[in-house]
Amino acid sequence: MCTLSYLDWLAAGQGELKEADTARAQNPINMSGYIVGALVPIAFTLLLRNSKKVKKRGVPVDVGGEPGYAIRNSQFPSPVETAWEGISTLAELFEQACKLHYHKRLLGTRKLISREVKVPEDGRSFEKLHLGEYEWLTYGKAFEAVCNFASGMVQLCHRKEERVAIFADTREEWFIALQACFRRNVTVVTIYASLGEEALCRSLNETEVTTVICGNKELKKLVNISGQLDTVKRVICMDDEIPTSASGRWTITSFADVERVGCENPVDANLPLSADVAVIMYTSGSAGLPKGVMMTHGNVLATVSAVMTIVPGLGSKDVYLAYLPLAHILELVAENLISAVGGVIGYGTPLTLTDTSSKIKAGTKGDATVLSPTVMTAVPAILDRVRDGVRKKVDAKGGLSKKLFDLAYSRRLSAINGCWFGAWGLEKFLWDFFVFKKVRAILGGHIRFLLSGGAPLSADTQRFISICLGAPIGQGYGLTETCAGATFSEVDDTSVGRVGSSLPCSFIKLIDWPEGGYLTSDSPMPRGEIVVGGPSVTLGYFKNEEKTKEVYKVDERIMRWFYTGDIGQFHADGCLEIIDRKKDIVKLQHGEYVSLGKVEAALSISPYVDNIMLHADPFHSYCVALVVASQHAVEDWASKQGVAFTNFADLSEKEETIKEVYSSLGQIAKKSRFEKFEIPAKIKLLSTPWTPESGLVTAALKIKREAIRKAFSDDLAELYTS
Ligand SMILES: *[C@@H]1O[C@H](CO)[C@@H](O)[C@H](O)[C@H]1NC(C)=O
Ligand SMILES: *[C@@H]1O[C@H](CO)[C@@H](O)[C@H](O)[C@H]1NC(C)=O
Ligand SMILES: *[C@@H]1O[C@H](CO)[C@@H](O)[C@H](O)[C@H]1NC(C)=O
Repeated sequence: MCTLSYLDWLAAGQGELKEADTARAQNPINMSGYIVGALVPIAFTLLLRNSKKVKKRGVPVDVGGEPGYAIRNSQFPSPVETAWEGISTLAELFEQACKLHYHKRLLGTRKLISREVKVPEDGRSFEKLHLGEYEWLTYGKAFEAVCNFASGMVQLCHRKEERVAIFADTREEWFIALQACFRRNVTVVTIYASLGEEALCRSLNETEVTTVICGNKELKKLVNISGQLDTVKRVICMDDEIPTSASGRWTITSFADVERVGCENPVDANLPLSADVAVIMYTSGSAGLPKGVMMTHGNVLATVSAVMTIVPGLGSKDVYLAYLPLAHILELVAENLISAVGGVIGYGTPLTLTDTSSKIKAGTKGDATVLSPTVMTAVPAILDRVRDGVRKKVDAKGGLSKKLFDLAYSRRLSAINGCWFGAWGLEKFLWDFFVFKKVRAILGGHIRFLLSGGAPLSADTQRFISICLGAPIGQGYGLTETCAGATFSEVDDTSVGRVGSSLPCSFIKLIDWPEGGYLTSDSPMPRGEIVVGGPSVTLGYFKNEEKTKEVYKVDERIMRWFYTGDIGQFHADGCLEIIDRKKDIVKLQHGEYVSLGKVEAALSISPYVDNIMLHADPFHSYCVALVVASQHAVEDWASKQGVAFTNFADLSEKEETIKEVYSSLGQIAKKSRFEKFEIPAKIKLLSTPWTPESGLVTAALKIKREAIRKAFSDDLAELYTS
């Protein structure tokens, strides 16, 4: 997952919109849409304005453990453990679905028609793919593949007490291998495909993995560190071509061969219990080395059950486009859920999602166009870029098309604000038809629900995407440690900037944090550190009891609680808003506290800012900031001002550029009414974006403070001395 991958969303947004604009400009019917659009809703708005009622989404609940203010989902008095009678593990859930939907499609992968490698003048080669239709495995065939693979592992002499690691991009084989391990009660270690060598070594060594299942790209990485992998004995490669450098180090078997020997030598399943560890998920933490989170079948099943209630009418008609990393809890839950309800999972990649994606050969189709998904998951960074891409294109067009887009947008916005979702049948239809249809076509045109997680979604993006795509966005808040369970925003909740109320599997409690000035007795809303309790709260960190004890607690009623370190407040309807982060609070030399996250969130609104990290320490009385400049905005400004420059790096070094960006930050700081010590006294402009590959942001694009501090330690020191 890299930042670049998402840039093609931006390009996609642009390409598609251009056509829409041209069509609109040539179409006289536009004008009738315009007029009807303007008149009808005004009357309705007046009629309905007063009928709005506040719906209670979360209600107070009496809980054990540390005192605080706790909320439960208003529909579920006690936390949900399973939504399926008699089912207590993911293995049972999958088997049941396969029997029920035996002849239906389950897993699909696109056929590769051709692959070209282009080497443009700058020497950086890139690949273009021509992909065909999806080829499908039915539930019945997928179940056979899973059973065969499970038996095949026995033939390879993998003992069930030993752990398996799956280290690969999201694909069909990943899911099959996962289910196969579940059937034999083998714990799966998951590792982000973009994790660095050090972290990879550490996680494989720590969990004493004996079998690694990977693609040939990842196998090359393993070969590089083979000297340090003491416990790995065998590798199962998902691709047919196995790199020659790998031979001799381990027994290497192809995925297809494992299935084949398994088919010839079937072995009975060895099903796990609910409390057995299903997955040890290594997460790229914001600080330090990654930690392995141990999740039981019961943990994941609780979240899967709870998420099912979020997506209205989820069932066997749904088609899901899978492209986020399966090593991320959100994707793992999503695919287990879709396969439980009889839905269809089509695999794609971030670089081939749309027709204009960077790896898609010109003139051929992207994953979304071919699959036409009805449900998707996304991380906020993707949605931000879709929004920016569409906006930029509209702004660049200007004139009537911009006016029309703006009008359509503001009409939809006031309809949503003034009333509940889905009102204004006629007007909505017209705007959809003339303005938003082409935007929707980027994702295949049939999206009816989007699930966003991994990081908070900005209010602006949430509104923009749900208006342009016409599909509600369910925003979830949760952590790997809580198996993604915690809160979610309901489809009919059109407020923005909040993360909703408790998922049916969780209780959410706020506890006092006096040092940070957040108390549950605060008015008008109780505030405090967010603590999550319930069956989705995981067992803890693998081989790290000390850290586990620090952030996990079991209360006298045997409920597990996880201390998130996030600060939140409860609204009157029981919905949570995240307002701060405990870890990010720094005490300055003179004793003032600076909330890094709060200041960064505010300042990142500046159009010049692509990314920002505020730095403060107890040795200085003021803070400084590293700012990754937005190339588009800064170059735009420079050309308007007639500032000459040879390239973007050169421009970012210029005194006048820094001054311009700094003054933009200053204005925002003033508007946000920041204290003087909260405003960076100096900034350093950087011209290279922070990507997961560079290790400076997580796969969900959250900044990694420690890594950035280390990488730019000289620059930070200079900011304090110069
Ligand atoms: C599953 O595996 C774990 C670890 O090897 C073991 O402790 C547990 O008893 C097993 N469960 C069953 C039902 O065999
Ligand atoms: C292997 O290691 C070398 C040197 O450390 C590095 O340049 C190369 O990119 C690595 N290869 C892979 C596939 O990670
Ligand atoms: C692997 O783990 C063992 C203990 O489990 C430790 O002694 C060894 O130093 C580790 N090796 C590496 C390369 O981290």
